[in-house]
Amino acid sequence: MSRTRVHSFAVSLDGFGSGEPQSLEAPFGHAGQRLHTWMFATRFWGPDGSSGVDDALAQQHSVGIGAEIMGSHKFGPPGWQDDPDWRGWWGEDPPFHTPTFVLTHRPRPPLEMAGGTTFHFLDAPVAEALEVAREAAGGLDVRVGGGATVVRDFLAAGLVDHAHVVQVPILLGRGVRLWDGLESLEDTYAIEVVASPSGVVHLLLDRRD
Ligand SMILES: NC(=O)c1ccc[n+]([C@@H]2O[C@H](COP(=O)([O-])OP(=O)(O)OC[C@H]3O[C@@H](n4cnc5c(N)ncnc54)[C@H](OP(=O)(O)O)[C@@H]3O)[C@@H](O)[C@H]2O)c1
Repeated sequence: MSRTRVHSFAVSLDGFGSGEPQSLEAPFGHAGQRLHTWMFATRFWGPDGSSGVDDALAQQHSVGIGAEIMGSHKFGPPGWQDDPDWRGWWGEDPPFHTPTFVLTHRPRPPLEMAGGTTFHFLDAPVAEALEVAREAAGGLDVRVGGGATVVRDFLAAGLVDHAHVVQVPILLGRGVRLWDGLESLEDTYAIEVVASPSGVVHLLLDRRD
């Protein structure tokens, strides 16, 4: 059975998955790169990186994944819908290598990129979007790639089977929150916590049967 997974989704100690304001120059707003420095330090990111627990968990990102779903703000800065030439932040060979579904209220025709990534633009409720992505994943799992709004919506709808959230020891104070409205999520998910020597804490959420 195809599962729905979240990987390496980083939040600050105060629960923000992104800073603000987002712009072309600052994809994560005032958070800059601070939510992801733990990952940049791993072998997953580069050959000189570490090979400890951060790396082991980061490596899971694409294993068995056949499609990604992301939000409109992960795909581009405010106003990208008005730019017919916008093709995402990642250049011509984005790191998804699967069909990738961008949720937006202003869909456009698909964009075929190098390396197996095709961006499809979808205006649909999350459950419907998941059905479409599952079909495209050909029996493999679907990753919900962010941002915080989309991950939160999928969690709230009970559609996520496994979530790897990384709590980073910084306080952002403002931005987009992950956990808002998800009261008592621990009732529906078994939660394991792994503290890394790097200072981040990995939260592993698995939906109870
Ligand atoms: N912390 C991490 O690990 C991580 C990972 C990935 C991304 N990020 C960051 O998170 C930020 C973006 O997060 P975010 O929470 O602001 O936004 P987001 O989740 O990327 O996107 C939310 C937007 O997607 C569209 N959307 C969502 N659900 C939809 C649906 N069912 N149907 C149609 N459209 C739908 C809406 O945009 P429209 O109304 O404009 O169409 C909505 O405002 C970025 O800064 C990104 O870099 C962080």
